[in-house]
Amino acid sequence: MANVTVIGAQWGDEGKGKIVDWLASRADVVVRFQGGHNAGHTLVIDGKTYKLSLLPSGIVSGTLSVIGNGVVLDPWALRDEVAKVEAQGVAITAENLAIADNCPLILPLHRDLDALRETAAGKGKIGTTGRGIGPAYEDKVGRRAIRVCDLAHLDTLEPQLDRLCAHHDALRAGFGQPPVDRAALLEELREIAPFVLRFAQPVWKRLKKVRRAGAKILFEGAQGVLLDVDHGTYPFVTSSNTVSGTAASGSGLGPNSTGFVLGIVKAYTTRVGSGPFPTELEDEIGQRLGERGHEFGTVTGRKRRVGWFDAVLVRQSCAISGVTGIALTKIDVLDGLEKVKICTGYRLRGKVYDYLPSHSADQAACEPIYEDMPGWSESTAGARSYADLPANAIKYIQRIQELIECPVALVSTSPERDDTILMRDPFVD
Ligand code: IMP
Repeated sequence: MANVTVIGAQWGDEGKGKIVDWLASRADVVVRFQGGHNAGHTLVIDGKTYKLSLLPSGIVSGTLSVIGNGVVLDPWALRDEVAKVEAQGVAITAENLAIADNCPLILPLHRDLDALRETAAGKGKIGTTGRGIGPAYEDKVGRRAIRVCDLAHLDTLEPQLDRLCAHHDALRAGFGQPPVDRAALLEELREIAPFVLRFAQPVWKRLKKVRRAGAKILFEGAQGVLLDVDHGTYPFVTSSNTVSGTAASGSGLGPNSTGFVLGIVKAYTTRVGSGPFPTELEDEIGQRLGERGHEFGTVTGRKRRVGWFDAVLVRQSCAISGVTGIALTKIDVLDGLEKVKICTGYRLRGKVYDYLPSHSADQAACEPIYEDMPGWSESTAGARSYADLPANAIKYIQRIQELIECPVALVSTSPERDDTILMRDPFVD
């Protein structure tokens, strides 16, 4: 399997950054295929920290980085991020960054709508990142979107802009907001167009060429399977398909290109934003795990909700995404606990479930059934082989593997690249 697809197998924030960075250093191409600048990937390379939201992780090491058609692209956020990363000494050119010319744009009117809806929803809000992701995807499937290729045709954009704005003006009026200033929007697009167009191309063609030449491709997923718009905890989800299958449709390569699907799984569970979370801990243990795990959002800085490991959810995610093997991260956060719990099923209205039902109210009413396991007092931080791990930590990992019905390919024991126990190499296996 020459290619690797990395996806989050929970609600995002599983620690993809470190794993993706390690894989990116051995890939020839890194491709983002869904989501937008709602993602937050932190890379620590040679002691320098890089925070990426939209740029693929390969960019820092000079690897060809591709933003595929499945991504929604905020051109102004892109320009800011490029400037920030360039200020850290990384050159970003048309040689190492390619953007799909059929990628839909996130415009200021999308951010407006995201905020207006969330404010109006009050307690029922989704808890979005406020980046305009959902409204931009709506316009894409509504066939109203302005896309990257339109930036080369601004002189004939008016009819398209009219259609888009007519839709948004009606929505805005409902929120008591003035209509979109079309002339100002067109001006903003004119100003940003040359910056984006320098990277724009039919990336499917470039990917086809590099694939034929034997390149190793790393598909870098954002968010997690439980935030998938079809398979996640709907409606408390993001607006893209976060499953591995999107690597193909969101880049323009076929389904046989995804290679080894590596599901990133945290040794406990976290979630940002609203929505069902059966194993959530609102006690001292949750507090302790949140602090030890530095569970604050990379993009919004919000405190993440924390809970025990939920094997039911991860088994479901692995099945839905065809996960070949998992990378288990942040096991060291559990060090020092007397007892650890794993959720093995749910109780719902007197019945036992071995999967998460689809209806939101059912999901919210699921009561976790736990299996207790002894904790470990020794440190797992920095372990680089199974032999370095305490016996109870090994038992915990093995039990997870059994319950999720998927092998553990690697275990990450600290944010450092080398603090990893490797059982299967995704690029070789
Ligand atoms: P949106 O993607 O901004 O529309 O937000 C929808 C939901 O997805 C919210 O619950 C967000 O907190 C969550 N979300 C979006 N991006 C990420 C991410 O990168 N990590 C974790 N959660 C995310």
